[in-house]
Amino acid sequence: MNQFVFHNPTKVIFGQGCISNIGEELARAGFRKILLTAGGGSIRKNGVYSQVVASLGEAGVEWEEFWGITPNPDLAKVRAGVEAARACKAEALLSVGGGSVIDATKAMAAGCREDDIWAFIAQSIPVHDALPHFTVLTISATGSEMNPFAVVTNEAELKKWPLIGPALFPRVTIIDPSVQLSLPWQQTVNGAVDAISHVLEFYFLGSDQETTLAIDEALLRTVIKAAEALREDPADLAQRSNLAWAATLALNGLSGAQFDGGDWTSHTLEHAVSALHPEVAHGAGLAVLFPAWIAQVHPQHSAIFDRWARNVFGATDANAGLEALVATYHRWGAPLTLGELGLTREEIPTLVELATQGRRVGRVALLEPHEVRAIYERAF
Ligand code: NZQ
Ligand code: ZN
Repeated sequence: MNQFVFHNPTKVIFGQGCISNIGEELARAGFRKILLTAGGGSIRKNGVYSQVVASLGEAGVEWEEFWGITPNPDLAKVRAGVEAARACKAEALLSVGGGSVIDATKAMAAGCREDDIWAFIAQSIPVHDALPHFTVLTISATGSEMNPFAVVTNEAELKKWPLIGPALFPRVTIIDPSVQLSLPWQQTVNGAVDAISHVLEFYFLGSDQETTLAIDEALLRTVIKAAEALREDPADLAQRSNLAWAATLALNGLSGAQFDGGDWTSHTLEHAVSALHPEVAHGAGLAVLFPAWIAQVHPQHSAIFDRWARNVFGATDANAGLEALVATYHRWGAPLTLGELGLTREEIPTLVELATQGRRVGRVALLEPHEVRAIYERAF
């Protein structure tokens, strides 16, 4: 039984209509001037922006705005955001959007206190000081709304790497699942695949940690059931809520509490893909690469993969479980090959180098670069 620390300081306010709380939360914490950060404009179309600014106005919180954070956010945008926050003397940041907006804003929050934010990423230095950060989540996928991680791409070096540290936990997160009714189906799928992948990054390290294994199986079944229901009826608010809360719990410390940090090979392989191709959505890349990783490693670790297959899919063994996972993603319209995502086999050596930096990766199986290459090859 591993030792572990579970500590999550983020306050979550969850439910339809709860965006109206954001102004009061900021005002009660003593913040009078903030920078609101956002992506490409979805929040203007679905009414989230107007709800947020109405709440800020009522609470007497002044704000400036920083728009245009793209999916798979890059360092240049983070640096521009730091300048914007400093220029308006923001006392706190408020991100309104998905994982990309939240992650970029976490990096900005750290960058407001530390000059060279890439040094923290490149040298894996934990962030202990950052501007306070509040979030209004609009797509359930990453868990960023309740965790201490941000993923940023250094576009010059093609490195999409994590920034980690206790100061990156959002202070308060608002999750109103009804604002996700405006999501295109493929974005809903990306979110479900990402949440499933987060649980699996931990789960396969398990053996006798019954509490966390059982929680994780429940999260996996819940995400799959919710996504299946939303495929039939995208307006099913109860299932949007189930998916949203499960996705948050999938990467807030709970799902990995007994698993000593997790494996993260599939994520490392996916981050290499979206560093090279920022147009590829994180969840879409995972839908291809996680099954390829399972196919490669499960024969050496059959007991935990058999348990997963049985308890999540009612399947007889790991092979049948893998088939069920791929069939599920196929039914949802997720991509099944890297070719469908616009990649070519000629890019495999670059991907291997970006993912491994010439070193071994993984925990469930410690993989040599040539084994990573074999996973990418399986994914075409
Ligand atoms: O930019 P806008 O206009 O807001 O549109 C977004 C974006 O195009 C749109 N969208 C969001 N909410 C919407 C909506 N469209 C309609 N209605 C809504 N309610 O969806 C698109 C995707 O948004 P994005 O924020 O990129 O998605 P996601 O939440 O999946 O975030 C992905 C990023 O997070 C990183 C990924 O690598 C990727 O860069 N991750 C962050 C993690 C973390 N911080 O813990 C862990 C993850 O494993 C992941 O690596
Ligand atoms: Zn992920």
